[in-house]
Amino acid sequence: MAVLDISPVRYENDKLLILDQTRLPGEEVYEEMNAKEDIWDAIYKLKVRGAPAIGVAAAYGLYVSVRNYEGTVEGFSSLLKDSRDYLCSARPTAVNLEWALNRMYGKYKTLLDDAKRRNVEFAVEEAKDALLNEAKKIEAEDIEACLSMGEFGLQLLKPEMGILTHCNAGTIATAKYGTCLAPIHLGQERGYNFKVFADETRPLLQGARLTSWELQKAGVDVTLICDNMASLVMRNGWIDAVVVGCDRMAANGDGANKIGTSGVAVLAKEYGIPFYMFVPTSTIDLDTPTGEEITIELRNGDEIREMWYEKPMAPEGVKTYNPAFDVTPAEYITAVVTEKGIVYPPYNENLLNIMKGK
Ligand code: MRU
Repeated sequence: MAVLDISPVRYENDKLLILDQTRLPGEEVYEEMNAKEDIWDAIYKLKVRGAPAIGVAAAYGLYVSVRNYEGTVEGFSSLLKDSRDYLCSARPTAVNLEWALNRMYGKYKTLLDDAKRRNVEFAVEEAKDALLNEAKKIEAEDIEACLSMGEFGLQLLKPEMGILTHCNAGTIATAKYGTCLAPIHLGQERGYNFKVFADETRPLLQGARLTSWELQKAGVDVTLICDNMASLVMRNGWIDAVVVGCDRMAANGDGANKIGTSGVAVLAKEYGIPFYMFVPTSTIDLDTPTGEEITIELRNGDEIREMWYEKPMAPEGVKTYNPAFDVTPAEYITAVVTEKGIVYPPYNENLLNIMKGK
């Protein structure tokens, strides 16, 4: 399937390439990332976006940030740490960013500590190779996780269902296949004939620009609606399930996702429609007890006032409030789909079990 050949992050011939998602659906353009500033900017400006894809981009990005270093081990260690902290500051909500960067840094520290313990010389060049391999592993594991979430997700869905989704948690938001769109892609291959409704997802239009592009390209029956139409399509009886992604799930099952997700969850509960959140274990943050502690990114008000319009659609200088995410309380989430299985309430207990492999 052509759309599934598109990876948002590619590392080929020693080049880190990022699909510039701000130019979709009009143009499919890859940009080469040569320095940590390029990667920070690409994440901040949402050229690469979606929690798992941000993690993969950051992992390769950390390697690219340090790969040309020549000098002492101490110098390399401090460059790696500074680059990790710098990249981590690009966006605060999606936990995959810090998760991937800490995993890369942890890999390095293990190698360094191991060399010290064994009293052998530590080679910076070998450490660079290990970092690149770790980034490749993060990417490969994400592809596997998405495929697995696709299979588990499909167990919750039946052929011909009407499905509502918000934002884009598809193939371009991950290494490949997507989280909540993975079962839709799999279902498409298996003749499920889903009818998908994509919320446009104001203000950055991930639903209009990305989800409807991705699903249309895959041949899925997709209908684009404005965010404020979700209640109507539910009331019309057109929606049998809601599927969404997640940027950070707290230990109690509260899940942060694109702004507007919590409203969809409240509506789904009112209309008796199951609401499924797709959350790879890399997005589960057991160190954050509840959604209250999740930092919500605030973005520039111009995204509301004038972006996408030919001329500003709000009075100049009007105050804005532009949170990029909201938290859906655990009580609104019917089930959490992870790559290790489907998790049901009580989430406090069952998320911990799945993370421990129980
Ligand atoms: O601001 P974005 O476009 O990065 O927000 C993306 C989302 O909210 C996704 O639903 C989430 O990251 C899950 S992606 C598999």
